[in-house]
Amino acid sequence: MMMTTTSSVSKSGAAVGDGAFPVAAIRAEFPALKRMVNGHPLVYLDSSATTQKPRCVIDAVCGFYENYSANVHRGVHTLSQEATAAFEGARQSVREYVNAADNREIIFTRGTTDGVNLVANSWGRANLQAGDEILLSGMEHHSDIVPWQMVAKQTGAVVRVIPVTDAGELDLEAYESLLNERTKLVGCVHVSNAMGTINPVKMMVEKAHAVGALVLLDGAQALPHLRVDVRELDCDFYATSAHKWFGPTGVGFLYGRYDLLNGMDPWLGGGDMIKSVTFEETLYNDLPNKFEAGTPNIAGVIGMGAAIEFLQRVNVDAVAKYEGELLAYATKLLGEFEQIRLIGTAGNKASVLSFVMEGIHPHDIGTILDQQGIAVRTGHHCTQPLMERFGLAATARASLAMYNTKEDLDALAAGLKNVIKVFS
Ligand SMILES: Cc1ncc(COP(=O)(O)O)c(C=O)c1O
Repeated sequence: MMMTTTSSVSKSGAAVGDGAFPVAAIRAEFPALKRMVNGHPLVYLDSSATTQKPRCVIDAVCGFYENYSANVHRGVHTLSQEATAAFEGARQSVREYVNAADNREIIFTRGTTDGVNLVANSWGRANLQAGDEILLSGMEHHSDIVPWQMVAKQTGAVVRVIPVTDAGELDLEAYESLLNERTKLVGCVHVSNAMGTINPVKMMVEKAHAVGALVLLDGAQALPHLRVDVRELDCDFYATSAHKWFGPTGVGFLYGRYDLLNGMDPWLGGGDMIKSVTFEETLYNDLPNKFEAGTPNIAGVIGMGAAIEFLQRVNVDAVAKYEGELLAYATKLLGEFEQIRLIGTAGNKASVLSFVMEGIHPHDIGTILDQQGIAVRTGHHCTQPLMERFGLAATARASLAMYNTKEDLDALAAGLKNVIKVFS
């Protein structure tokens, strides 16, 4: 079924032919959303941690194991050829979706963390020297901080930080003044997992390139909410994880500009990444295989391809508009609580609401909401430096996806009233 804002009717019969977002039809594709949790219908508000999976993704993963489980690139037999075709078909789908110029620019990884580590180790260790600067945003996930600290230690490069304003936006004046001829790489989240801030990455890429620095964007949180076009952004590297956008866990891709990837040595050695091996010398394979050592997560990659097709089918521009309405509604609802302080009030935001409640620990909020079937995340969201910036150890975070509804947000507000009751 094609899902656009003009579809006529959803599976549950909700009117969608008037331009309304077909959320009922979308929900019907996600088996887990029908679950009961602690005696209540599940209200899933933890999509920034990981999204639920639609039937098409589940079927793609199961279909591989049921019908053509075989290794890729190695076999002449039918099953191996089918597996290879599906695996490389996923690469083609990803390439087209993010508008990369060439399939060889799409490296399959274990996810965003793996993609960043690839760039840090393959590019960073070879290209950074003492005194060089790695400029990271103050709202980076630990996965875009720690690999760079490790490489900085090995090379003598230094990590510098773009400050974050009280609203949870990047201080762009500070960014410009931090950029200089020593800046070799800028690392920045496209969309902040902790606050939802959508960073002006296109402009940031332009400024970085003007001083000769490369840019690695962390796109873990962008694809479920926004259209991503790597050529339009003009970034050098773009790392993401499929599980954040309705695909399987433990798989993702790194986009890298062909000339850069081609000039980089691999950091993981093993099968499939070689052309020839003797005990004296190894000749590396061509892109993208050079960076895909060992048997990959074949089922995961095929599931990721199905997730890309799902994103294409639902029309992510309509998703962005719908989620914008949900975000406005949720912001208003939470604004009615005098005990709640929102962390992250950027003008350009994805549908993420991080908050603290006066006198109540975030973990208690999460536990009491769970008793009511409501799943939110509590903790530092792998952004401890950002938490420190706001003088906090943790927040509670409700993060929305295209399958959430205003009813979910009403349930959250009612749940939070119960939290207050417990503590009063
Ligand atoms: C912004 C951001 N970057 C990186 C990651 C790490 O993703 P993964 O654990 O899939 O490698 C996450 C996951 O929470 C994230 O939200």
